[in-house]
Amino acid sequence: MNFFKLFVAVFITASSVVFAHSGVKDKNVKERMMLMKEMANNTKIIGQMLKGKTSFDENEAKLALERLSFLSLKTPKVFQVNATDPKSEAKSSIWDEFDEFTKLSQDLAETTEVLAVSVGTINDLRPALKRVSSGCKACHNKYRE
Ligand code: HEC
Repeated sequence: MNFFKLFVAVFITASSVVFAHSGVKDKNVKERMMLMKEMANNTKIIGQMLKGKTSFDENEAKLALERLSFLSLKTPKVFQVNATDPKSEAKSSIWDEFDEFTKLSQDLAETTEVLAVSVGTINDLRPALKRVSSGCKACHNKYRE
């Protein structure tokens, strides 16, 4: 059941993001928040298939995972500048430990790349989403307020 909690957390975060952006002035912060919102949107595509809210579509699932891989690779790029904003939840330790931050991004990029190839049936979605969520959490636990 732990997995459902993870999913709900991702889902709730995704729906509150729309409002969170409105007051952000710094363009670097805005850009990285937009990228994270895309991460949430693609994770949600898989979550909704799993819950039966949308019908299972192998290609859509694979595409969502491909996009997650691409976004993960892009993550260190949008975080390169140590920009701040009152609305930002990024911990400043990101820029002291940028190698570790980059590694966590690459780990998720690899995981999602492998999953994009291996996912074939609806039964693959639950373990896939669990691994994706762990990848998000590994970084959020460390580098997000
Ligand atoms: C390598 C680190 C890292 C990974 C991996 C990561 N995130 Fe994030 N995420 C962050 C950081 C740091 C922030 C806070 C950014 C800020 O507020 O400036 C954040 C913020 C967010 C936000 C809030 C954005 C906003 O508008 O305030 C969402 C939603 C999010 N992440 C979703 C995800 C999802 C879903 C995944 C996995 C598919 C993921 N993230 C993977 C580091 C990461």
